[in-house]
Amino acid sequence: MKVLCFGSLNIDYVYKVNHVVRPGETEKSEEVSVNCGGKGLNQSVALARAGMAVSHAGMVGKDGKLLLDQCAENGIGTQYLRMIEGRCGHTIIQVDNEGNNSILLYGGANQCMTRDFIDEVLGGFEKNDVILLQNEINLLHVIIDKAYAKGMQIYLNPSPYNEALEKCDLRKVSCFLLNEIEGEQMTGETAPEKILAAMHERYPSADIVLTLGKDGSLYLDEHGMVRQEAFPVKAVDTTAAGDTFTGYFLYARSTGMTAKNGLELASKAAALAVTRPGAMDSIPAMEEVICHSWEEDAL
Ligand code: RIB
Repeated sequence: MKVLCFGSLNIDYVYKVNHVVRPGETEKSEEVSVNCGGKGLNQSVALARAGMAVSHAGMVGKDGKLLLDQCAENGIGTQYLRMIEGRCGHTIIQVDNEGNNSILLYGGANQCMTRDFIDEVLGGFEKNDVILLQNEINLLHVIIDKAYAKGMQIYLNPSPYNEALEKCDLRKVSCFLLNEIEGEQMTGETAPEKILAAMHERYPSADIVLTLGKDGSLYLDEHGMVRQEAFPVKAVDTTAAGDTFTGYFLYARSTGMTAKNGLELASKAAALAVTRPGAMDSIPAMEEVICHSWEEDAL
């Protein structure tokens, strides 16, 4: 079984601020860093650092050498990456003193997928291979249709939620991984159990994973619900915590772990990620997740 992550690669411009800028306001920032990110690439890196062989498909602009280098350094398969004219996707991220973030996203090369490119990429995969998707590239609905037609298992992190997802036939998705904001946007419900119930009613054959930040995570499939508490840590920067969770959970499921054990592993990895600044840089390796002493953190 092969694993493909088809998604965004971004250059993240991260500004440390006392509070996230409000409309009409100018706020100073005394710390800036330029990092590799993008939900797609972060999730590929999480998979790779968990120990999974993963290929990443996507596009970068002429300024994207650092992103390609990161893929290679993390051992991610690069045969489905293309450098095209124009600029990379990039973000402007504000991180406040509590570690909360706000993200402005410019699509750039991530919005240049073509049907021919999708065919070329999916030509390398077959029935039961896994494809992991987010919503930061164009033609997502085409990728879902074509991957489903091949019999691939489709894992979708519907983030960020927007109208592009409404074009997708989400009944073809095998597993959704979403947070409570995306859950509300998709179902209109706010209570976690109601979000899960509404998702299950709409997509009865899909597994649903709902992350709840410091309140942990929930999983629902046709056998019932599983609950996982969050591991308490001091948050420095929550950017990419969800991506870390997604990569580790997919690793767990693809290697035969139960949903309960998968939630626990993914929660530990995400907890470590929020204790560190940055997106991709904050994603831990499996060894760090396993060796970390959670009892000491709880004291
Ligand atoms: O999930 C975090 C990521 O979202 C950042 O790396 C940024 O690029 C945005 O896509």
